[in-house]
Amino acid sequence: MGLSIVLSLLIIGICSEVLGNGIGNRYFLEKQRFLLEILHHVHEPLMNQQWRSLGEHLVTDKEQYVVYNDHMTEFYKAFNLGKLLNHNVYYNPLNADHFQQTLGLYHFFYNTRDWYTLWQNICWARVHLNPGIFVQALTQVILKREDYQALIMPKVYELWPETYHDDITLAKARNFNFANWVRYENTSDIEEIHPQKMEPSSLEGDLRNSLEWFQAMADVNILRMHQQKGENKLQHLLEDIGWQSYWYNLNMGIALTAEKSDQLQEWCYYQLSQILARYKMERYAQKLSYKQLKPARNIQKHNHRFKESSLKTTQIIMDYLDEFEAKVSDAISFRSLQLTNGSNIDLAENENWLTGLRELFPYDWTQLTIEEPMQPELLLDIRTSLRSEDFYYYAERFLHSYRWYRTVFQPPNQKAFIPSDLRIDDVQISPLITYDQPVDVDLSNILHARHFYLAGQFVWPFTLQQRQFRLQHQDFNYSLQVSSNKTQSTIFRIFLTTPGQGSLQREPFYQLDSFLTVIYPGVNRITRNSKEFGGLIGDHISYTELHQFVKLAEREEYDFPLNISTSNCGFPRRLLLPRGGSGNPLKIRLLIVATVYDFKARQGNELNCDFTKGISRWDDLPLAYPFERILEDDNQAVETSGDHVYWKDVNILHENYQP
Ligand SMILES: *[C@@H]1O[C@H](CO)[C@@H](O)[C@H](O)[C@H]1NC(C)=O
Ligand SMILES: *[C@@H]1O[C@H](CO)[C@@H](O)[C@H](O)[C@H]1NC(C)=O
Ligand SMILES: *[C@@H]1O[C@H](CO)[C@@H](O)[C@H](O)[C@H]1NC(C)=O
Ligand SMILES: *[C@@H]1O[C@H](CO)[C@@H](O)[C@H](O)[C@H]1NC(C)=O
Ligand SMILES: *[C@@H]1O[C@H](CO)[C@@H](O)[C@H](O)[C@H]1NC(C)=O
Repeated sequence: MGLSIVLSLLIIGICSEVLGNGIGNRYFLEKQRFLLEILHHVHEPLMNQQWRSLGEHLVTDKEQYVVYNDHMTEFYKAFNLGKLLNHNVYYNPLNADHFQQTLGLYHFFYNTRDWYTLWQNICWARVHLNPGIFVQALTQVILKREDYQALIMPKVYELWPETYHDDITLAKARNFNFANWVRYENTSDIEEIHPQKMEPSSLEGDLRNSLEWFQAMADVNILRMHQQKGENKLQHLLEDIGWQSYWYNLNMGIALTAEKSDQLQEWCYYQLSQILARYKMERYAQKLSYKQLKPARNIQKHNHRFKESSLKTTQIIMDYLDEFEAKVSDAISFRSLQLTNGSNIDLAENENWLTGLRELFPYDWTQLTIEEPMQPELLLDIRTSLRSEDFYYYAERFLHSYRWYRTVFQPPNQKAFIPSDLRIDDVQISPLITYDQPVDVDLSNILHARHFYLAGQFVWPFTLQQRQFRLQHQDFNYSLQVSSNKTQSTIFRIFLTTPGQGSLQREPFYQLDSFLTVIYPGVNRITRNSKEFGGLIGDHISYTELHQFVKLAEREEYDFPLNISTSNCGFPRRLLLPRGGSGNPLKIRLLIVATVYDFKARQGNELNCDFTKGISRWDDLPLAYPFERILEDDNQAVETSGDHVYWKDVNILHENYQP
């Protein structure tokens, strides 16, 4: 097909982006395949000749943009002066200059009037720019442009496998020679596997093991290598690719949200508190201290490209935190705050405490920029921050100040939220069982790029998957028995916590589930399955399979489902529970809290990292209720005792995987 025909097809495509029935049409498929191919081996030079030619120049005709703003002008100036980040320099969005450059490119993408301009700019950026800037800006645009939201970006750990895997794995994959391997089978520990052996075998929508899947994968050799054993007791959580990428996606969504709202801030602190609580539950499960975290000067083996924080970074952050805490503490002692515009406000007056909340508590971490060039460090790269144990120490300090401020200034949650004539009588829960689940992770982007071009054509002859074991749990049910003397709409929140009899303030409370239901007079029994819990996602198919499905659909042998991937800002469902005990079960507690429904439920789209429609919530209570503030250590506290509250001891068992 000639270039001009391709172009006209793509241009028509804008008008009919997606068919109404959830199946990608050919315009969609063409864009989708382009996206997968242009991102393939994104850290290496682009091999596609056509796109290289198309990408010779950035579109600078202002007519082609809805607006042509200062970010773009500055960016283009910097490009002409040769001031943009070099190809091989380590990119870090927390670096102020890198962030500005990303923003410039983002606008060159976002403001384009049509796909053709965007297409050319994408090719240009792929050829000329640092791949970090390119991927970051492109990810943002796919998230934010409604007409392209249906397009699927490969997951971040498939784009940059080198960020997530150890050096030995990387070296093996990089040096892997497919031709030799075929000739002298068994010369390495890389083995070929049958498609049926890919794990996990059951995915939502039965994507694997369907007839179409075998068709799509028919021309692809599936190779497998095994993961190195690590030594960190928390590795199964900290190095989990879903755990790490959750934080990355969330921050990517926030960074370029133009309308920063109080709601978004509240949601971010809630997410941070969830992450911290979940981390602490895992420490508890591993019998590590968890009540008050310390900065980790850990003696981990460094077989990753990314290092732990340098002393200098630690110093910068400690200074920042000291200053931040002093500011909050002053605001609390003096009940007043000097705003950035110079005026003083009395925090005890009217709604002023909300202004203070807004001014004092940062949440867009990409704003915490650091001026100097940096070496890759776990903490300072949002792709890997959650792998750094220091992260949780800092998070705890941030959250402590945040909760303290709320405790002092937030008006008391009205007693009206406590339901009357309602009692939680009993809670039953099916066995909680965790296990190590085998999974294959796509390393194809590390392989040498030459494997993927045959006579100038892009091909995908084989895929390299790393066999890992990850934390998983069996589905479980719980049921509540609730009696009431009237009909009432009620919200239930269910938390996971330690069995500690000690201070509530020191224990983690991880919110497992929350839901709205109607309670009728008499005895009510409500059953919830872990599959129903909100905000969670399952598995998605790999980069390789995605590409093969697109190819199959282009041959009209497959109806490409637009819901084939998973929401980027969903939390991995399989990480809900901390690893259970083997032998002796892990003892934990559930806390169930009922509150009155105020008919204020709202539905946002944060699961897809889109914050423009607000944040989903059940009611006007703070999102982390009742743990958004520091609760008194009082056994009679209305938030944690009474008929509308129920505590339940439970066990989690860890079972060995049996192949
Ligand atoms: C490769 O090695 C495995 C085990 O070491 C053996 O079972 C298999 O038959 C060998 N395959 C070939 C083609 O030599
Ligand atoms: C996509 O949606 C269809 C129809 O609702 C559903 O049957 C299918 O399971 C979904 N696929 C995935 C991968 O979620
Ligand atoms: C400073 O900002 C506050 C809150 O936005 C506003 O109420 C106040 O009038 C501003 N003061 C000045 C001097 O601009
Ligand atoms: C319902 O009313 C009866 C009679 O007043 C009382 O004994 C019972 O405790 C009430 N039940 C609840 C759940 O409030
Ligand atoms: C959960 O409940 C459903 C329906 O009540 C039942 O079919 C299922 O077997 C239960 N699952 C477990 C793990 O108990």
